[in-house]
Amino acid sequence: MAENLLILISVIMCLCQLNRVDAEVTFVSSTCVNGANYTKNSIYEKNLNLLFSELSTKTSTHNFYNATSGKIPDKLYALYQCRTDVSAEICNECIIAATNQSVHSCPSAKEAYVWYEECMLRYANRSIFSSAETSPGPRVWSLRNVSNYDALAPVLAAKLDSVISRAAVATPFGHFATEDGNWTLFDSVYCLAQCTPDIDGFHCKNCLTRALSTMINDYNTSIRVMVFYPSCQLRYDTTEQFYHELDAAVPAPAPSEMLVTNPGKTLFFFSL
Ligand SMILES: *[C@@H]1O[C@H](CO)[C@@H](O)[C@H](O)[C@H]1NC(C)=O
Ligand SMILES: *[C@@H]1O[C@H](CO)[C@@H](O)[C@H](O)[C@H]1NC(C)=O
Ligand SMILES: *[C@@H]1O[C@H](CO)[C@@H](O)[C@H](O)[C@H]1NC(C)=O
Ligand SMILES: *[C@@H]1O[C@H](CO)[C@@H](O)[C@H](O)[C@H]1NC(C)=O
Ligand SMILES: *[C@@H]1O[C@H](CO)[C@@H](O)[C@H](O)[C@H]1NC(C)=O
Ligand SMILES: *[C@@H]1O[C@H](CO)[C@@H](O)[C@H](O)[C@H]1NC(C)=O
Ligand SMILES: *[C@@H]1O[C@H](CO)[C@@H](O)[C@H](O)[C@H]1NC(C)=O
Repeated sequence: MAENLLILISVIMCLCQLNRVDAEVTFVSSTCVNGANYTKNSIYEKNLNLLFSELSTKTSTHNFYNATSGKIPDKLYALYQCRTDVSAEICNECIIAATNQSVHSCPSAKEAYVWYEECMLRYANRSIFSSAETSPGPRVWSLRNVSNYDALAPVLAAKLDSVISRAAVATPFGHFATEDGNWTLFDSVYCLAQCTPDIDGFHCKNCLTRALSTMINDYNTSIRVMVFYPSCQLRYDTTEQFYHELDAAVPAPAPSEMLVTNPGKTLFFFSL
């Protein structure tokens, strides 16, 4: 009996460990805006740290949040958005990782952006709220190509068009939509579109349409592409359902692929 209990406890502990591993977040890119730097121990730095700790306390209840700190000329504006389908726990982990990443990669920049697959964080010394922005725009794509692009193309076009339209009109989950489709008997494609909730449908659609043209013109045969902007993101993947169904309780394990970054704005995925 006691032995069984011990085994049960071990199993539970083991599952918790697994959950911890599953909860890892995936870094995409960061951009520091050069030309406007703050100095160590300045009021600006203090305001930034205050803002970061405020934002990370909001993740249990908000998947989007905007806040300000300090007074002009040391006033800061910051916001974050977590992907609508990730849990509050992952959102929290992502924002903590993103604030840390921001401090490490942009140690003195007055304005910076950080993208993870699960969240986006940005701050500036100018108002960045309710403003539709499509720059900077990191992309991630696979060097692997689909062999029969002709079969994928019409299905992908229809699905991307559909997620863009649905995200633009705002679903009950905000500017967020996912969709899957089959393009051969055996192959599926998974699509996701999201805009920040502080922009309207018109600007959301513009942002996503811009992402779409990049996707179709520059990476059209890739097995997966992600385009990130400050105000929106668009993704598809033909190898896995990378998003969670909105009512699914347990998040899927993170993809185990190597992300290789080059010094420009572009990123590559290598898949086995
Ligand atoms: C701001 O800091 C960055 C990184 O340390 C540096 O490359 C840049 O030249 C600085 N800009 C100014 C205006 O000092
Ligand atoms: C967040 O943005 C909204 C919309 O622009 C604005 O009304 C609100 O005051 C902002 N929140 C803060 C804390 O500035
Ligand atoms: C913070 O970021 C640095 C640099 O990317 C990394 O080495 C470190 O592990 C991070 N710390 C945490 C707590 O995430
Ligand atoms: C942001 O900081 C830069 C550099 O210090 C300054 O030129 C600019 O006017 C500031 N922007 C605002 C809105 O205060
Ligand atoms: C996939 O297609 C792109 C663009 O045509 C090309 O640059 C790349 O080398 C291709 N990848 C492979 C593995 O053939
Ligand atoms: C794709 O095919 C799978 C398996 O045959 C099926 O379960 C799924 O509903 C199909 N999806 C769509 C969008 O038709
Ligand atoms: C796919 O991308 C290639 C290379 O960028 C381009 O020449 C071609 O027109 C694109 N195809 C479509 C259907 O947009």
